[in-house]
Parts: sequence; C-alpha cells; structure tokens
Amino acid sequence: MKYYITTPIFYPNSSPHIGTAYTTVAADALARYHRLLGDEVYFLTGTDENAQKIVRTAESNHVDPRTYVDGVVKRFKELWKALDISYDDFIRTTEERHQNVVQQIFTKLYEKGDIYKSEYSGWYCTPCETFWLENKLVEGKCPNVDCGRDVELLKEESYFFRLSKYQDALLKHLAEHLEFIQPVSRRNEMLRFIESGLEDLCVSRTTFQWGIKVPFDPKHVVYVWLDALINYISALGYPDGENYKRYWPADVHIMGKDIVRFHAVIWPIILMALDIPLPKVIYGHGWYLTKDGGKISKSRGNVQDSFELIQRYGSDAIRYFLLREMQVGTDGTYSEDNVVERLNSDLANDFGNFVSRSLAMVVKYRNGIVPCPGQDGAQEREVKALSHEVKKAVEKRFEACDPAGALEEIWRFVSRCNKYVDETAPWVLAKHEEEQEHLDTVLYTFMECIRVMAILTAPFMPGLPPRICALLGLDEGIIRWEEADQWGILKHGLKVEKGEQLFPRIDISQYATAEETKTVELGQTQDQTISKAQDQDQKELTEPPALCSEFEPIKEEISIEDFAKLDLRVAKILSAEKVEKTDKLMKLEVEVAGVVRTVVSGIAKHYAPEDLVNQYVVLVANLKPTKLRGIMSQGMILAASQGEVLEVLMVNKDLPGGALVK
Ligand code: MSP
Repeated sequence: MKYYITTPIFYPNSSPHIGTAYTTVAADALARYHRLLGDEVYFLTGTDENAQKIVRTAESNHVDPRTYVDGVVKRFKELWKALDISYDDFIRTTEERHQNVVQQIFTKLYEKGDIYKSEYSGWYCTPCETFWLENKLVEGKCPNVDCGRDVELLKEESYFFRLSKYQDALLKHLAEHLEFIQPVSRRNEMLRFIESGLEDLCVSRTTFQWGIKVPFDPKHVVYVWLDALINYISALGYPDGENYKRYWPADVHIMGKDIVRFHAVIWPIILMALDIPLPKVIYGHGWYLTKDGGKISKSRGNVQDSFELIQRYGSDAIRYFLLREMQVGTDGTYSEDNVVERLNSDLANDFGNFVSRSLAMVVKYRNGIVPCPGQDGAQEREVKALSHEVKKAVEKRFEACDPAGALEEIWRFVSRCNKYVDETAPWVLAKHEEEQEHLDTVLYTFMECIRVMAILTAPFMPGLPPRICALLGLDEGIIRWEEADQWGILKHGLKVEKGEQLFPRIDISQYATAEETKTVELGQTQDQTISKAQDQDQKELTEPPALCSEFEPIKEEISIEDFAKLDLRVAKILSAEKVEKTDKLMKLEVEVAGVVRTVVSGIAKHYAPEDLVNQYVVLVANLKPTKLRGIMSQGMILAASQGEVLEVLMVNKDLPGGALVK
C-alpha cells in the first residue's frame, strides 16, 4: 500500500513556533505509523515563499526577500530535525521544479477557458493573503476572526479562475465522499460555504513582482494560494514523474482549520479542471491557544522559543504533549506548565515509572536476567486481551487522524500495566518459595508489556525505541506493529538494566519567571540541576508508594549530627482545603510554636479536609520553602505509605504545636 501525506507549506515570514509545529508532528506520527504497517510512505512538507507578506517582512528587515526566506527556511529545517520529523521531501515554492509546474498548469487552465482575464476591484488582506468582497468586511477590516487587520483596496487587471463552474461538481463529490473533509464539523462548515455560492477567484496580481510570473503575460504574478496548493503535485513531479504516478492522489492533506477553505474549494476545483483525481482526505485540526484563549502566533507576540522547549524537555515529550493535548475537532491549550503536567503525570509517573519499576524488579529478583515464564493466570490473560483491544482501537484512531485518541487508548494499556504490578505484588511473591514460578511469569510479562508499550508509542515518540532496546539488552529492533498484541516475543535469558529514568520528573520552578502560571506541583522534581535534598522531599510525597517503600534501598548512613539538622516539630492543623485543579494537593494552615504556616501536602486523595482539622502532625520545620501551584509551602508533613495506602503521622498525646520530635 502507498500512503501520501502532506502538511501545509509554511510561510517563512517568521520562524516556526509550537503552534505551527503541531501539524507537522501530527503528520509525522501518521507517516511513522504507516511505515510501521509496511506501507510505502511519502511525507511532504515545505515552505510557501511567494507571498506578498514575505516581501513586506523582508523589506522591513532591510534584506532582499530571497536572503530573508533562506534564513527562515533554515530555521524550519532545524526545528523539524530537532522534533525528529521524518519528511521525505521538503518543497520550496521558489524552486524551479515547482515554478515550472505552476506555469504549466496556469497555461493549461487558461487554454481550457477556466482562467480568463478581467479586472479585480475589491479588497485584499495581505496577512491572510485573501481577497474579500466589500460586503464580507467587518467594520471595514479583514473578516477573518483571527485577523481583523486592515485590508487594502485593489483595482487591477487580473486573471480569474472559474470556481463557479465547478460548484455543483464539488458538491456532488462531497455528497459521494463523506470522508473527504474531516472531521465532520469542518465538512459541515464547508458545505454551508459552498452552498452559499462560489464566486470566481482572482488568481493574479500586477502590483508587485515577487512570485511566479504568468508565462504568457509576465506583468502578472500568480496568486499565492493557487501557486501554493500546486506544491502537492509539483513535488511529486507532475505530470510525468515516477513519484506522481506512484503516490497521487494524496491520502491525507493535514492542516489547521483556518486553511481548510482553500483546500476544500480551490484545490479540488484546480484538480477537477485538470481532470486528475482529488485527494482522499482533507483533515482540519484545531489551533493551539494560549491560556487566555488567544491563538499562538508571531504577530500576537506570544510565541515561546521552540528550540529552548525541546532542549528543556526533549523532543519526545514535546511531541507527546502536542499530540495528546489537542482533541479532535477542538482547540488545544498550550502553556509550559501544561507541558510539565503531562510530562510528569503521563510520561514520568505512568509510562516511565512502569518501565523503571519492572526493570528494577528483574534486576533485584533475577539478577537482571529475564526469566522463562510459567503458566499464565487470569491477570496475564487480561493484560494480553487488553493489548488486542487497544491495538485495534489505536488503528481506528490513526485512520481517523486522531493522535490524541490513539494516545488515550494506549494509556489504557499503560495504566493496566501499572495496575498489574500492584495486583501481582512481586515483592510479596519474592518472599515465598512456592511462588517463584509465578514471579517468573510476572517478571517476564512485565518485560513484554514494555515491548508492547514501546511499539504502540513509537509513531509518537520515535526517540523511545532505541532507549528501550538498550535497557532490554537488545541490539535488534523490537518495533514491529503486528507484534503489538503478540506475546512471548522476547527471549528469556536477556540481560536487562535498570538504567536511567526514561522521563525524569521536572520541576518547572527552576525555569519559572515571575509569572504566577509557572508553578510547580509536588513531585515535579528530579532534574539534575535541582538540589538532591529538595528532590528527595518531594519524591516521598508523590512517587507511587509501592515503588518507594518496597524497592527504594535504605539510604546511605548518616551521622547523628546530620540527623540533628532536621527540625521536626509537632504542628496543629488549623484548617485544610483542597488545592483547586489538582486531585493530590491539600493546603494546610498549621500552628507551630505560636506561628501559623502554610503547608501544601500531597495527601488530598487520602484525607477529607475535615479529617485533618485539629489533628497534630509531624512537620519538617526547617525545610526550605518552595512554591507549589502558586502557593508558598513552608515545610512538609510526614506520612507513611505502602501501595495505595497512605497515613499521615499523627501525635495523639497532649503535646502542643511546636514540641520537638526527635
Ligand atoms: N502558507 C499557507 C499554507 C499553504 S498550504 C498549500 C499557510 N501557512 S502558515 O504558515 O500561515 O500556516 C501553516 C499551518 O500552521 C496552518 O495549517 C495553520 O493552521 C497552522 N498553525 C498556525 N498557527 C497555529 C496554532 N497556533 N495552532 C495550530 N496550528 C497553527 O497558511
């Protein structure tokens, strides 16, 4: 099977940002998935360089447009490299191979009578590169909800493309191919738009020179959208190129919702006029918005440096965030603390923790040698059955271009794996001679779960498989899609390593600015750059309990002087309330030696506020204060935990808040 997928070609008037990266990362995940299926994939991206706004930006930077775009295109390519984008071709519309095809097509459509000369009198929005009729303007400005900027009055001789002629044919195509525009909300929008009547489109300009010349009338430059859309076939070598014959029609054109209109109307009509098949799917995703609901865009000045983000969190984590956060048909919210939250909960806690717990157990109980499994029990059968179900569901989600849905399905499996650890409690099995075969089965199944998780997530996080292979002591690949629900693939006898955490927890406060939004939640720690002491404190409260109590080795010996540095005090809880938008954190007001302090504690899942008020607890009183979710926490209360159970240490004798604990 062949699979041809494209991203829009980006305007290189400014460097790419995390919002623009979404489309490309999503297309990359789809391309990688299809490669895993064994499809012959062609993945195209590129830059749309003949726009009038490029000339304007270059002018304001006092460079010629060519030099300007060369610099920005370099940034695009660097970003795609940093994000592990596996494109097969990168087309620039200033390349000759593209310009020739555009000129050829323009001439063909003119000769056919589908392009004709007339005069355009109307408005143009340069930021959107769109023509607008007077009656569409909103208070004299661009009607695009995301733009609203000034428009310019144009009155010039122009060529026009007969969109109106193809209106009925396009509606017929939509009626016969319900899958053509996706998701369905965008299809409905487009249907309404087309049914309201298509006007012929102005497809040339004479007031500037930057762009592709109309070959038979060179004072005209081809309208940038007509030029840009043709990239999808010019890159394949239309009309005779081997790639064109092999890959056209495209399987998916993926893009943001703002440009579906051009792809769902102008592009199919160009293709109909040329008498060549239409793409199979046009998929319009939402936008990444900032927390205050604005679109992330250079012109709004709310863009964060993508390279810095990737360097900070890693390409896999950023890819995961982008793909997981935006749900089908809706917009996603981007903020750095959202990234950290996802990274800490889904990647560090769920995925990374399962991998490190299970490897640690193989190391501890079997000297790092993957054992030979015995008979499956009910739990193993359940885990395996779920892998079949999840694999099928993920395939469906990929077919629907729904990466967030696919990841949601995969995390059902990841959660089940974590539950399997708690259910089987290998640390208990290890203590009983008669349970050794059962323990072998459990440990072997853990390793297989890691393999399955690595396959399912490979299209999303391509950096993971080599790291997982290294931990499992494998030198050959384990990423074969068809084996994502097959079991017994790993050979027993492999030597595994505990290795480093795949996704260390992040403490966002180390990057925090004065912004309130950049807060930290308990447990979001453990980057090499933060102090060990702080790391340890926060980990105690949030690390899944089974791991810390059962498998954390007893720490290094300390002297009585070291211990004496800790100031442990009895503290009386005066009030307790859950911290908004978290399920773990409780804000406590405690009284110690006549002073009231605020302490944020990760105990909210285990206690109701009313169970805590008036209780006496043990407080680490000289712990350096830290900001958690925007609240300054002045100390930490002690708790014991095992598995799902957690109990705050309470003092029942009549001792005042402030009494020493030693
Ligand atoms: N050059 C045209 C596309 C021509 S395709 C034949 C263009 N370029 S663009 O650079 O302005 O936008 C490229 C893509 O980035 C669009 O799909 C757009 O929706 C997407 N995004 C720009 N900002 C975005 C977000 N904040 N969030 C998600 N996608 C965003 O349009």
